[in-house]
Amino acid sequence: MKIRKSYSEQETEVIGFELGLLLKDEPRVVILLDGELGAGKTTFTKGIARGLGVTSVVNSPTFTIMKKYRTKDYFRTLYHLDLYRLEGEGTDFDLEEYIDGNGMIVIEWPYQVSNFLPHDYLLVKINKLSDTEREFIMECHGYPCKRAVQLI
Ligand SMILES: Nc1ncnc2c1ncn2[C@@H]1O[C@H](COP(=O)(O)OP(=O)(O)O)[C@@H](O)[C@H]1O
Ligand SMILES: [Mg+2]
Repeated sequence: MKIRKSYSEQETEVIGFELGLLLKDEPRVVILLDGELGAGKTTFTKGIARGLGVTSVVNSPTFTIMKKYRTKDYFRTLYHLDLYRLEGEGTDFDLEEYIDGNGMIVIEWPYQVSNFLPHDYLLVKINKLSDTEREFIMECHGYPCKRAVQLI
């Protein structure tokens, strides 16, 4: 487990960027972002995307459930999911549809589909400590994120 703190939106993006860089060469990484509205999940995801090599604008998929991005070298795909709206729908949502060999998946509000979550994942719990202060608790479950969580 690793804990990082951020005192600004920019700093949150930088922590995400570091994580994206560390996970750049790991296939099939699933990152679960847990935290209240406004915690910084989307901001953090923007940083991850940059670290991975995505150059297009990353913004909240709240009204689309999923947005797909390619890295500039086309090797990696980032799937950014926001499952907030799935609440109470008794979903038959299938994560496997989104996982391919080179895919990275970042999920906001992951517990809407807890039945379908994979065994290996990186959990990032974001605590909102004040208007501008955030705490990131990162826990690796399974193999692909072990090294990244040690190094970040
Ligand atoms: N340290 C911080 N890290 C991230 N966001 C922050 C921070 N301090 C203030 N903010 C603000 O909190 C909001 C976070 O929004 P967003 O990333 O969309 O959250 P979420 O996706 O969790 O709902 C933004 O308005 C941002 O400016
Ligand atoms: Mg969001």
